Amino acid sequence: MAYENLLLEKEGNLAFLYVNRPKALNALNKDTLLEMKDAITEIKNDPEIDLLIISGAGDKAFVAGADIAFMQNLTAVEGREFGALGQEVFGMIEAMEKPVIAAVNGFALGGGCELAMCCDFRIASTKAKFGQPEVGLGITPGFGGTQRLPRLVGLGMAKQMLYTADVIDASEALRIGLVNSVVTPEDLMNHVKDIAGRILRKGKMAVRFSKAAVNEGMQTDINRSMTIEADLFGLCFSTEDQKEGMSAFIEKRTPQFTGK
Ligand code: CAA
Repeated sequence: MAYENLLLEKEGNLAFLYVNRPKALNALNKDTLLEMKDAITEIKNDPEIDLLIISGAGDKAFVAGADIAFMQNLTAVEGREFGALGQEVFGMIEAMEKPVIAAVNGFALGGGCELAMCCDFRIASTKAKFGQPEVGLGITPGFGGTQRLPRLVGLGMAKQMLYTADVIDASEALRIGLVNSVVTPEDLMNHVKDIAGRILRKGKMAVRFSKAAVNEGMQTDINRSMTIEADLFGLCFSTEDQKEGMSAFIEKRTPQFTGK
């Protein structure tokens, strides 16, 4: 399907989803979020795709936030609906079985930082900038920022970022654990693809179960989350990849995983 505000590309088992409104620094309006909902459903259901990379079109922004022009005259009810839509779409990304990596190529502010945070992890270019500038607009973050930021960087740093609206550069984002690595803009996609390739060469279901164990386990208490882990660990023994992975180790050869 062709999108007006997104670019969806596929390369082997990889899908690349670019938010594509460079003139508005890829700001997210309602139409863009609705298109993202379609695109995520398409990627989720595509049996050829095993991993998604999300980035921003153009050389300046990942996503500079929710679209301020779109939000300017919303009523309280419309604002709530818009926030709920963003939360729903980002929740779909977070809950997708397939791994999702954010390749943060520029401004990741407000809804852009929130988009990056619903991905499994973030790799940034030296041009990336992060922040939750919402209080400077007289609003709170609305697409999950008040919840995912403290879970990623801790309460104190999250509150400082949320209250001050300060924008931080990629090296500070690395220091506080918001991103996993920082590379030059030229190297960003190759670096992300290299990580993606290393994931794709592993047992597909084991990777997906690992994601489920982390995501579901982090929502609950340690006793329940250990049961979730034990169940998923057990489920691995129903896969062909477990048999192949362990046989290959014993036979001192490289495993040939089939994803089954
Ligand atoms: N919404 C709508 N349009 C935006 C936008 C946004 N979030 N961010 C940038 N744009 C538009 C600008 O209005 C401008 O459009 P025009 O050319 O038509 O004037 C164009 O993109 C280029 O932007 P600038 O001229 O401002 O570029 P700059 O290099 O001088 O500054 C910037 C870049 C620092 C990112 C600045 O654009 C900026 O501060 N953007 C807003 C960032 C922001 O506050 N984001 C949070 C939004 S609220 C939110 O996201 C709520 C939520 O959680 C759901």
